[in-house]
Amino acid sequence: MIQRLTIDAFAATPETAAVLRQVQIDRQLGKSRLTVEAGGLPAAVAHYAGIATPQVVVVEEGDPAALAEQLEQLADVCEAGTRVVVIGSVNDIALYRSLIAGGVSEYLVRPVSAGQILDALSGLFADPQSAPKGRVIACWGARGGVGSSTLAQNLAWGLGRYLHEAVVYIDLDLAFGTSVLAFNIDAKQTVVDALAHPERLDEVLMERCMVDYDDHLQILASPGDCRIHASISLDSLDHMLDLAARMASVVVLDIPHVWADWTEHLLSVADEVVVTATPDFASLRDAKSLIDVLAPRRGSIAPPRLVLNKVDPSRKTQLTPKDFEETIKVTPSLAIPSEPQVFGEAANNGQMVGEAAKTHKVNQTLNQLVQSLAGKAPSSRKVTPKRSGGLLAWFGK
Ligand SMILES: Nc1ncnc2c1ncn2[C@@H]1O[C@H](COP(=O)(O)OP(=O)(O)O)[C@@H](O)[C@H]1O
Ligand SMILES: [Mg+2]
Repeated sequence: MIQRLTIDAFAATPETAAVLRQVQIDRQLGKSRLTVEAGGLPAAVAHYAGIATPQVVVVEEGDPAALAEQLEQLADVCEAGTRVVVIGSVNDIALYRSLIAGGVSEYLVRPVSAGQILDALSGLFADPQSAPKGRVIACWGARGGVGSSTLAQNLAWGLGRYLHEAVVYIDLDLAFGTSVLAFNIDAKQTVVDALAHPERLDEVLMERCMVDYDDHLQILASPGDCRIHASISLDSLDHMLDLAARMASVVVLDIPHVWADWTEHLLSVADEVVVTATPDFASLRDAKSLIDVLAPRRGSIAPPRLVLNKVDPSRKTQLTPKDFEETIKVTPSLAIPSEPQVFGEAANNGQMVGEAAKTHKVNQTLNQLVQSLAGKAPSSRKVTPKRSGGLLAWFGK
């Protein structure tokens, strides 16, 4: 089985397209996503002019004379880290060498077989050090009950659907985590099992401990049982995170409201931190002290984002985003309205809000959260990001 990869292929000939479609359904790619498009190398250049490249791009040369020039154009629009596999017509060792020297990962000569393409794909990231690393998003509630877990769950689910890439959600609230209920899943093994034997933990054991929620999202649930007195050691946590980041494009961490070595550590090193606060004084104070503590530790890593949740303008006593901005000097990046009916129904159904109340307008706000944390536009042509109203539009109402 080839690790989870996002691959776009651009065939120039019907023969290669047919072989790629065979590759598409091969069991070795069961965890990956391969899209097959027509138009060969020039189509790839045009396609990525406005959107991000996936982990792997397979291109078939159209015109051998234009190969070098078109590959240069492709290089201009490729993100660092994207691997390029070229299928061409010229069988020449000098050409092969010059392409590899120019940054192409693999050159295959037409006619290619499905097996050759699969071999090339599995060789791309054979060295674990070179494997692409997913981004880690740590979700923290300024206080208990502010909705941090709920947002983390909806965020993880939304990111999988938006990016069409693998997302792993890890519930680190060992004693009281809600992931099993929120996603209505049956987890035979949990994050406690994954953390129990760091020396044995590898991708196979991780897979065994996770539950597939949909095509993109995998959940490493917590037992949510306070009778299990499991503890978390920094070493096993780091090892688990490292594995998860190799297995998925995004790892969403639901961190419980516990101030400990390991929670502080995660909030200091995660690529992104989302602090959820409700518009009240206690949340304001705690968000401020957390952000003050984290700022120097995170150094040049992205500063924590502040999200206001359960906002209800009809409650005259509640604080405003401006109060937060003036006190913490961090502008809330989003305000999510209080919608007890919608969130309550989703929780009762064991579904995400986007599933339980597909057409409700709060989904637009949740989508803004997803898009602001996706870090890039989706790599698939089929998904077009919907930008609605701007981040702070909600405040205007
Ligand atoms: N925007 C919202 N409007 C209404 N209820 C919400 C909202 N966000 C979360 N909730 C509810 O708040 C409760 C606490 O959420 P939870 O995610 O468990 O909080 P935390 O993880 O911060 O302790 C849940 O019942 C959840 O459904
Ligand atoms: Mg929680």
